[in-house]
Amino acid sequence: EWTTGSIVEEQVAAIREQVGDARLICGLSGGVDSAVAAALVQKAVGDQLTCVFVDHGLLREGEAEQVERDFVAATGAKLHVAHEADRFLAALEGVADPEQKRKIIGREFIRAFEDAEEAVLADAAAAGATVDFLVQGTLYPDVVESGGGEGAANIKSHHNVGGLPEDMRFQLVEPLRALFKDEVRAVGAELGLPAAMVQRHPFPGPGLGIRIIGDITQERLAILRRADAIARQELTRAGLDAEVWQMPVVLLADVRSVGVQGDGRTYGHPVVLRPVSSEDAMTADFSRLPYELLATISNRITNEIEEINRVTLDVTSKPPGTIEWE
Ligand code: XMP
Repeated sequence: EWTTGSIVEEQVAAIREQVGDARLICGLSGGVDSAVAAALVQKAVGDQLTCVFVDHGLLREGEAEQVERDFVAATGAKLHVAHEADRFLAALEGVADPEQKRKIIGREFIRAFEDAEEAVLADAAAAGATVDFLVQGTLYPDVVESGGGEGAANIKSHHNVGGLPEDMRFQLVEPLRALFKDEVRAVGAELGLPAAMVQRHPFPGPGLGIRIIGDITQERLAILRRADAIARQELTRAGLDAEVWQMPVVLLADVRSVGVQGDGRTYGHPVVLRPVSSEDAMTADFSRLPYELLATISNRITNEIEEINRVTLDVTSKPPGTIEWE
């Protein structure tokens, strides 16, 4: 039988068998998948796990605090925070190609984990040990879409599957590899993670980096972060979080259009709202959000963010569109 409880028991046993008394690192992204993977490993082998949260500077407003505060409170896991925004921005400078961005972000993630290993080992209980395993929250759809499934085409290099460097020194532990998102949420709830964390909309590992169409700069990130925060706030206020699978906000950073504000002509950037409904992210349809909500989001974004003078709505299904724009 395939119940949530049996998935947990099975995975706890499999993790213990795979890692023995070796030590593990788990990268937390701020999303559900890595949090549930970490909570499973924490349940299986407790203090052998140290979570590493790489703040790559591509996060949304408030996300770093959520990991540092809420996740630790819920699981009691050891957490090491690496502040790496400068490193990622330097590596991404001038890069506009989506696959290049993903590869660079994936590579820098692993390098950042490797750098964090020393700090992890400094932990008193770990003196003299090595860290041999890397825990990843890879889901079944990630495996299929990165070409891991039989006969599947490589659609996008998900950073946590296709983009790993070949010289990586960790072995992988991927306890969610056979699961779909709804199963992962159920496992998270079973493990006692708070509802706010378990029900959180998916957010890609490469973060806002793949929601800026064009190259990534500090200024563009700041603009997108504000637009995204407004859109999320209003979706929540409308009580529609559960109706929507996720709602990326995409900044068309290389596009400008003419607008008018007060007495003046503006020449600003558009953002795209990409609200989608989905069961598992393999296919999706655009969410029919109420016009009132769309109007509120549009008004707030264009009023509150000087650089944005146009808000557009993506009404494409997947396929042919993907959920993210890159
Ligand atoms: P697409 O854009 O391929 O996205 O329709 C499907 C789902 O996966 C998320 N996504 C990612 N998640 N690393 C992740 O952990 C990634 O590189 C990545 N790219 C896309 C996306 O947000 C959607 O939920």
